Amino acid sequence: MHILNNISLKPYNTFGIDAVAKHFTSVSTIQDLQKVLKLETYPNKLILGGGSNMLLTKDFNGLALHINLKGIKIISEDKNHAIVKAQAGENWHEFVQWCLKHDFGGLENLSLIPGNVGTTPIQNIGAYGVEIKDTFESCEAINLKTLQFENFSKEDCHFGYRNSTFKQENKGKYIITSVCFKLTKKNHNLHINYGTIATQLEENGIKTPTIQDISKAVITIRKSKLPNPKNIGNSGSFFKNPVISKSEFETLTKNFPDIPNYPVSEQEIKIPAGWLIEKSGFKGKQFGNYGVHKKQALVLVNYGGAQGLDILKLSQLIQKTVKRLFNISIEAEVNII
Ligand code: EPU
Repeated sequence: MHILNNISLKPYNTFGIDAVAKHFTSVSTIQDLQKVLKLETYPNKLILGGGSNMLLTKDFNGLALHINLKGIKIISEDKNHAIVKAQAGENWHEFVQWCLKHDFGGLENLSLIPGNVGTTPIQNIGAYGVEIKDTFESCEAINLKTLQFENFSKEDCHFGYRNSTFKQENKGKYIITSVCFKLTKKNHNLHINYGTIATQLEENGIKTPTIQDISKAVITIRKSKLPNPKNIGNSGSFFKNPVISKSEFETLTKNFPDIPNYPVSEQEIKIPAGWLIEKSGFKGKQFGNYGVHKKQALVLVNYGGAQGLDILKLSQLIQKTVKRLFNISIEAEVNII
């Protein structure tokens, strides 16, 4: 384990922001992780997973700690299910593909989401009608105060829409080191009714889809809408979809009868932030080397060399405009550092 100085974090965040960490280290064993956490020289730490849910707005004046723990293991299995444990530093999409190769179902709709396994429970990642909480069994995490390992069950995690205990009462208190998923070995529970999955399957000529077919369809849809961070820096959805009350929704429909909406409960309705941003005129807008993606207004992009602060200011301008036009507050989904 080496502690390096003045390292660019550009390769460690999918937005591709060139912020510098005063100190940096990457750990690939639990022992090294524990050693680093014991060092009193670096009280200020930035934990780096896949870097797919953060916007770096300044240089980091502490120790950036890259979690590079690797390994995938079947912990137990019976006729119907397998419990699979993946270390935090495994790339998410590669892990999903590993599961599909073993014919383990449950994660196929979450194909191609950028980031690493260890950060998926933090914001309960989700796409196409499936969230991590649907297959999550448990995770292990180091308590940053006691340096002891703790196990979190699904109930302990308090999962919500893009939310968990690790974003609320336990924010910044733990490093997740591994996650266990309970996956199906047969009678897979297929989710094909969300968005354009069914249409895509039809286009692919598939009548009775397998989990692998669903993954392929999701990959095609995502590739057609979302920019690949390897080519254009981005952090996926920059904002969460706001949830408003039924009465606020009814007021809105008077002026905007075509507003797309998804009921969340009897009293609450989710509105796609992408629609609000598009109607506010930002979709595809480019401001020099950053802007709003052409095909999905929820995604802010770095065309190369953009400053995190510029992207933050753009996000604030979008929030203000949406508030002024629709009286709806949209909240950032990414962590602003
Ligand atoms: N829409 C627009 N303009 C846009 C984008 C969206 O009008 O530019 C409207 C359309 O009416 C569309 C609706 O929004 O029907 C919903 O769009 P979409 O199905 O693409 O989903 P989303 O609400 O924009 C959410 C997740 C995505 C996830 C997709 C698919 C959030 C914040 N985002 O986006 O997650 O891939 O659903 O399930 O919930 C991510 O979190 O990084 C992410 C990409």
